Amino acid sequence: MTAPRPAPPIAMLAELTHRCPLACPYCSNPLKMVAREGEIGTEAWADIFAQAAKLGVLQLHLSGGEPASRRDLTDLVRAARDVDLYVNLITSGIGLTEARLRELDAAGVEHVQLSLQGVNAGIADLIGGYKGGFDRKMQVARMIGEIGMPLTLNAVMHRHNLDDLPQTLDMAVELGARRIEIACVQFQGWALKNRAALQPTREQVAQAKALVDQARRDMRGTLVIDFVPPDYYADYPKACMGGWGSTGLNVTPDGTVLPCHAAETIPGLTFQNATEVPLDQIWYDGAAFNAFRGTDWMPEPCQSCSRREVDFGGCRCQAMAIVGRAEATDPVCKLSPDRPKVDALLTENAESAAGGTTEDFIYRRLEPVRAR
Ligand code: SF4
Ligand code: FES
Repeated sequence: MTAPRPAPPIAMLAELTHRCPLACPYCSNPLKMVAREGEIGTEAWADIFAQAAKLGVLQLHLSGGEPASRRDLTDLVRAARDVDLYVNLITSGIGLTEARLRELDAAGVEHVQLSLQGVNAGIADLIGGYKGGFDRKMQVARMIGEIGMPLTLNAVMHRHNLDDLPQTLDMAVELGARRIEIACVQFQGWALKNRAALQPTREQVAQAKALVDQARRDMRGTLVIDFVPPDYYADYPKACMGGWGSTGLNVTPDGTVLPCHAAETIPGLTFQNATEVPLDQIWYDGAAFNAFRGTDWMPEPCQSCSRREVDFGGCRCQAMAIVGRAEATDPVCKLSPDRPKVDALLTENAESAAGGTTEDFIYRRLEPVRAR
């Protein structure tokens, strides 16, 4: 019997560039980033957008690095709108002037997701590694409000800012955001390198959950709060990417197509480039996309678990990072034989006094090792 054809993807994340003025130690970009010379041009991206729309993609997330580092950002938005993709711009705000924002609005950006590193310049500029970044971001947020572009704040939370959650929510309301995403740091990319310095404590997480529950009641009708708790403290993993190769794909600055942003950490997978291979072929037939699609690949205990089509065995990249095997059950799962490895990391972290300081940060920096 032949396997049923997978459904088409709904969303595409286009990492337009890895260049970024900020240097957040939790960046989800890979450690080996694409240099400017390796980035594909406007026409190549426009062609990928057209192929994505034809394949069935509805939502396009323009991300980076900092997408505003691309001079052709407005042209790229136009190209995406020309093929009827919904365009969400994910930005730190740095590099966006009022004139540029108005241009982007006119070109058809439907939604802006603005990252927030902290609630004041002291913490935000320390996390972002960029002096003056916070003040600039506040100006940009106000401009977005004046222009009337729908705004979501995207606050990555960790040991050093989770206690500022009440002020973070107030700031979202003050800036006119309709939604805030409180995402506790996920340990991929640079965040994995900085895990000891970023891991929140169990008490911080419990307090944050209670606060979010209360705030959801108090702010109903004013602010939608999405909360992504840190999964190391959870009993079950998240359905990473909604299941491998099931709802979305990522395209890196050089056109490489990935099933998730950290997929390149899995040895043995080979990835294709959308400037060389048709996108629908990569999605339906690509070896990387089929590696962990569906449930056939699953080991026990996932294979006979009632949640196997709820979380799809969790995150392959997390299994790789902690267990050393991408095909293992996500070790966050309490049913995984490897759960003690996660518990050991939490204990190690709780006991490590030095582990929690910002002085230990290894900031993200662009090492031009992947110029095609
Ligand atoms: Fe999910 Fe596998 Fe754990 Fe079941 S055993 S809850 S499918 S990770
Ligand atoms: Fe790759 Fe979760 S980040 S599967």
